[in-house]
Amino acid sequence: MAHICSATRLNLAFRPLTTARHASTTTFSVTSTPNYLPPQTSTPQTAPLQSAPLSTPVSGSTSVSISGSSPSPSRSWNVVRYHPDLKQALQYVPQTSLPTVYRPTDVLVRVLASSVNPLDVAMTRGYGNVLLSLANIVTSTGVERGVGGASDRLPLTLGRDFVGQIVARGQEVSNFKHGDLVWGTVPPYEKGAHAYYVITSESAVAHKPKNLSNVDAASIPYVGLTAWSAITNFGELNAQNAYNKKVLILGGSGGVGCFAVQLLKYWGAEVTTTASASSLNWLRSVSGATADECIDYRDTERFLASYPGTFDFILDASSSSAAKRNYELLSAQHAKNQSMGSELPRVLHPKTMYVTLTSPLLGNLDRYGVLGGGLTTVADAISDTLSGLQSGLRFRWAYYLPNPKALLHIGDLVERGAIKPLTTTVYEFDRALEAYESLEKGRPRNGKVVLSNA
Ligand SMILES: NC(=O)c1ccc[n+]([C@@H]2O[C@H](COP(=O)([O-])OP(=O)(O)OC[C@H]3O[C@@H](n4cnc5c(N)ncnc54)[C@H](OP(=O)(O)O)[C@@H]3O)[C@@H](O)[C@H]2O)c1
Repeated sequence: MAHICSATRLNLAFRPLTTARHASTTTFSVTSTPNYLPPQTSTPQTAPLQSAPLSTPVSGSTSVSISGSSPSPSRSWNVVRYHPDLKQALQYVPQTSLPTVYRPTDVLVRVLASSVNPLDVAMTRGYGNVLLSLANIVTSTGVERGVGGASDRLPLTLGRDFVGQIVARGQEVSNFKHGDLVWGTVPPYEKGAHAYYVITSESAVAHKPKNLSNVDAASIPYVGLTAWSAITNFGELNAQNAYNKKVLILGGSGGVGCFAVQLLKYWGAEVTTTASASSLNWLRSVSGATADECIDYRDTERFLASYPGTFDFILDASSSSAAKRNYELLSAQHAKNQSMGSELPRVLHPKTMYVTLTSPLLGNLDRYGVLGGGLTTVADAISDTLSGLQSGLRFRWAYYLPNPKALLHIGDLVERGAIKPLTTTVYEFDRALEAYESLEKGRPRNGKVVLSNA
């Protein structure tokens, strides 16, 4: 457990908090004294909220505010500058006022737990800044944030998913009331959930599944919706047509991959997955939803050479550094099989759908700007599509997409026990810097990193 070793070096105390319903779900917490100076203000567990309208709210909205003289009601971890050193990039910031709900369909949520994803670490270095800044300007109310250049996004609060309680609502919010316990996501172009409070659209939240702790539940929405969109929107597989399909999930021990394995098994697909050697036993034991075959990713080439069938669907949910190599291995094996005669296994057929979560879009725009990056991405898309066709497959890049119906459905699957969370390693909220650092060093095996600010 590389993570525990690194934590020991940092003099952290890991102690099991709860062992959730499933043997594979253990929650750890990090509770030792912070190695930085926290702000000298007292932190109420729950901020004293007033549902009084603010001076100039947009018509139809509800606002909540706290006067500047109150003790800091809200805190967030903000990226204050894009920097490769997390200590330089991230700052723990007290705030004197609560965020204001301007859009009538938004909710203000008191965050109780939020997960840290690989995207968060990448964004501390500026990843995606160009496209996400544009998206932010396009979707901005124009009240909360001025329209301006990319640097306007700083300070930037990260954190894509959360569990929390509704504390204020826009006037058109009808599905939730004050105090409801919800889980949900915030799109990457909005202020995130590594904060005491987050604002998101009503359509991005749902009632939290009752059978999971807050920290276990907080580890699911972003990876769950990403897997869902990759499989259903981009991959065109669903509960109706997935039965008996031959599926390969690359990176089945990660957040997205493990969710994908469980969902596709539940829908009756025949699932093969790859993971590191140390994750294999765990992966084989993810209850009834275990993959049919789990391969050490170092043996992918050998496995493909002897695979007797063809895959209908392949999802690359491995870390971005591994994605290119995975694709090369598959297409090389396919070319070899073709050249050796049609009676041999083919691995791929012309209708195989190959969906990867590693897209060049955000990186291209960061590197070459909007126009250059856009054109480069179009060129990449054409090149990948043609190379996919040559390899005998349909090639697609996939992205996280908010999806209210899918979030409800995922909650239902979780409550039925069809989808189980990864092991969560929990950091108290004021130790988020260490949580980010742990992910940067290599996330805990079979695990998600979650911040708790309950
Ligand atoms: N496009 C989008 O909107 C979007 C959204 C979310 C995520 N993503 C991307 O999707 C990927 C998965 O995200 P995640 O949150 O699930 O990440 P994660 O939890 O860090 O999982 C990464 C997975 O990759 C595996 N892996 C590492 N090296 C590998 C190799 N050489 N070959 C095969 N597998 C390998 C890991 O296995 P072990 O842990 O066993 O080593 C693990 O299963 C990441 O690349 C992420 O950036 C994209």
